Amino acid sequence: GSRPLPFYRMPMQAFSAKVHRDLPPTPQWGYAGSTPGPTIVTRRGEPVLVEWANELPTRHFLPIDHGIHGAEKSKPEVRTITHVHGARVSAPNDGWPEDWYVPGKSLTALYPGDQDATTLWYHDHAMGITRLNIYAGLFGSFHVHDDDEKALGLPSGEFDIPLMLYDRLLARSGKLYYPVSDDPEAPWVPECRGDAVLCNGKLYPYLDVEPRRYRLRLTNVANTSFFNLSLSHGKPFQQIGSDQGLLAAPTDRLNIELYPAERAEVIVDFSAYAGQSVQLRHQADGIVEFRVRAKGRPDTSVVPATLRPVQRMDPSTAVQDRVLALGEQDDSGGNPMTMLLDGKMWSDPISERPKKGTVETWTFVNVTGDAHPIHLHLVCFQVVERRPFDLYAWNARKELVFTGPSIPPAAHEAGWKDTVRCDPGMVTRIITRFDGEPGKYVWHCHYLEHEDNEMMRPYELV
Ligand code: C2O
Ligand code: CU
Ligand code: CU
Repeated sequence: GSRPLPFYRMPMQAFSAKVHRDLPPTPQWGYAGSTPGPTIVTRRGEPVLVEWANELPTRHFLPIDHGIHGAEKSKPEVRTITHVHGARVSAPNDGWPEDWYVPGKSLTALYPGDQDATTLWYHDHAMGITRLNIYAGLFGSFHVHDDDEKALGLPSGEFDIPLMLYDRLLARSGKLYYPVSDDPEAPWVPECRGDAVLCNGKLYPYLDVEPRRYRLRLTNVANTSFFNLSLSHGKPFQQIGSDQGLLAAPTDRLNIELYPAERAEVIVDFSAYAGQSVQLRHQADGIVEFRVRAKGRPDTSVVPATLRPVQRMDPSTAVQDRVLALGEQDDSGGNPMTMLLDGKMWSDPISERPKKGTVETWTFVNVTGDAHPIHLHLVCFQVVERRPFDLYAWNARKELVFTGPSIPPAAHEAGWKDTVRCDPGMVTRIITRFDGEPGKYVWHCHYLEHEDNEMMRPYELV
């Protein structure tokens, strides 16, 4: 057609904003001068162009420690490249970590919108420094709508709200604090957990709501923390979607555990709470207050009993099962804290070359003592199973010996995903069809401190 493509210009800028009324303004980085940046809204089948312009200062305001990827002195302190998490996009538009660029430069990327309605998010992905850039505030929400979703009659428009959740360490001065390691053997901190949980740029914000249904798009944009979410009135969320869009049917959940980069779309009904206050909580702490008005306009939204068909993929259709260890050490006497994927470093030759159009299963063998949220670019996948295994047999002989039964995904994990929690002591198996433009993409742990320190690998769609 001759209609111009929708175009967004997203300048990355330094700014200061109050995260709480009792604190001085917090220096941050954001897109278009805010954290989160403006929400990009598009529809299935409607491409959008985004110019990501680096207008940041030339010095980072957070301490640059000696991350392995970040250690080379030749790299500038301020380098960015934006990735849209969960987008089906060609490799040159995906935000390859080494395609970073410096202040004064910009890059325009095309997002074809070739996917079902879902909640995506954009964030920095520059090699070795993503943890600091995202911590500084470089992220925002990206929503895809479609007609099938619209026909369902879910709460929409002003009743459809993204809630980006993240934790920070804040000084009394209002400044962000990022921990620095004092261990010369392990010069980077393996995790960064804050005591202040922020939502959409604020510490314990409130939202005026009407006594009716809302659709909330919960996104964990934290560096390393997971959130255990609940509602103060003790009623369940109605979860309608996960990372890659709607579930087959709504599922009631009293608690939602959300790992970094995971999304949960929920319906919350405030109609029985007119004139009252309801909190969204992480553990026992309120993180958002919903102040429910005494009266509202009539609520014509519905939550249908079925949302969209989710055809379960059959592992027997996979042409290949890749068994990949999470956290395997290299034997070269490197940094003892480095966790590798499949025992390989970022710069090792590409070992994963799925063929376009084929189905594969990837079996993640977590040999560490922690969970890792593993994310693949380009594709959406399904969780096949989790299963406990014998770590000693693995370490001694690289043999996968299961020690318990296979655990299928619960309803909220049985839809389409792009990030999966891999528990310690467990094998986590996913299945996907590798469709899209051939080229180089990445897969990685979404704990940003891990991702920046070798827990990221390239793969090539051929
Ligand atoms: Cu959320 Cu590689 O990205
Ligand atoms: Cu991604
Ligand atoms: Cu990890």
